Amino acid sequence: MSGAARRRPLGVVTRGTTNPNRLRRVDNWIVSTCADRLRTAAVPLVVDLGYGATPVTAVELRARLAAGVRRDVRLVGLEIAPERVAAATPAADPPGLTFARGGFELAGLQPVLVRAFNVLRQYDEREVPDAWRTMTAALAPGGALIEGTCDELGRLAGWLLIDADGPRTLTLAAKLTTLGSPAELAERLPKALIHRNVPGEPVHELIRALEGAWQAAAPYATFGPRQRWLRAVTQLRDTGWPVLDRPHRWRHGELTLPWLSVAPRP
Ligand SMILES: C[S@@+](CC[C@H](N)C(=O)[O-])C[C@H]1O[C@@H](n2cnc3c(N)ncnc32)[C@H](O)[C@@H]1O
Repeated sequence: MSGAARRRPLGVVTRGTTNPNRLRRVDNWIVSTCADRLRTAAVPLVVDLGYGATPVTAVELRARLAAGVRRDVRLVGLEIAPERVAAATPAADPPGLTFARGGFELAGLQPVLVRAFNVLRQYDEREVPDAWRTMTAALAPGGALIEGTCDELGRLAGWLLIDADGPRTLTLAAKLTTLGSPAELAERLPKALIHRNVPGEPVHELIRALEGAWQAAAPYATFGPRQRWLRAVTQLRDTGWPVLDRPHRWRHGELTLPWLSVAPRP
C-alpha cells in the first residue's frame, strides 16, 4: 500500500442517493468521447468516485466500458463512507470490478479516467477547485476527470471534462421526450456553475440563448423533440456559440461547449 493510500481519505461523507441507470447519459458520452484515452492507456484503470449507498452505477459503468471500449477495463469504486464499501463488496468481480475506501486523493491509484457524479454537489462551491486539483493530480498521464450532476432519474445532467490543465468542456444532456424547456438544465449544472446562473455570467447567457433557440425551433416539434433539439443547437452554433461535437452527439440530447465560453467571471 502506498503512502497516499494510508492517509485519511480526503472529503466528507454526504447523502448516498443513487439509482439504477441514473448515469447512463454520461456513461454513453464517456464511451464515445473518452474511448481513445482508455484504449491507449498502459493500465486501463478507471475510478468511480463516490458511488453512493449501492454500487449499481459503478457496476453499470464497468459493463458499459467493457462492452464499448476495453474488455479488460479495471473499475475501482471508491467511497469515503466505510459502510458503503462493505455494502458494495458482494458486487465485486475482481479484477474487473473492485471497491475500496478513498476520497479525492483517489486512494493512491493512478487512473486514466475518473467519474465523480453527484459528489461535489453537496460541497461548498469554494471547495471545488481544490477537489479538482487533488483528483487531476492523481490521474495517469493523459487522464481525465468527468465531474457533474444529474437529477434522480438521470433525465437532466451537466458535467465537465477536466484534465491536468483544468476544465476543458461543459456538456449538458437531457432526455428529450420529457424535456419541457432547456432552462430545466440550469438546476443540474455542475457545482462550479450552478450558482452562476445569474445575469452577467456566461452560463446564464448560455441557458437564455438555448431557451431562445428552443422556442424559435418550436415548429420542429411536429417532427419530434429530437428534431427540435437539433434545430435549436444548430441555431445556437449559428449565432456564435462555439458548440462542439457533431449532430450524431447532439441527437442524444447533448450540447458540449468549451469551458472558456461558460467559465465564471473572475
Ligand atoms: C449522492 S451520492 C452519488 C452516488 C452516485 N455517484 C450517483 O451519482 O448516483 C454521493 C456519494 O459520494 C460520496 N462522497 C462524498 N465525498 C466523497 C469523497 N471526497 N470521496 C469519495 N466519496 C465521496 C458520499 O459518501 C456519497 O455516498
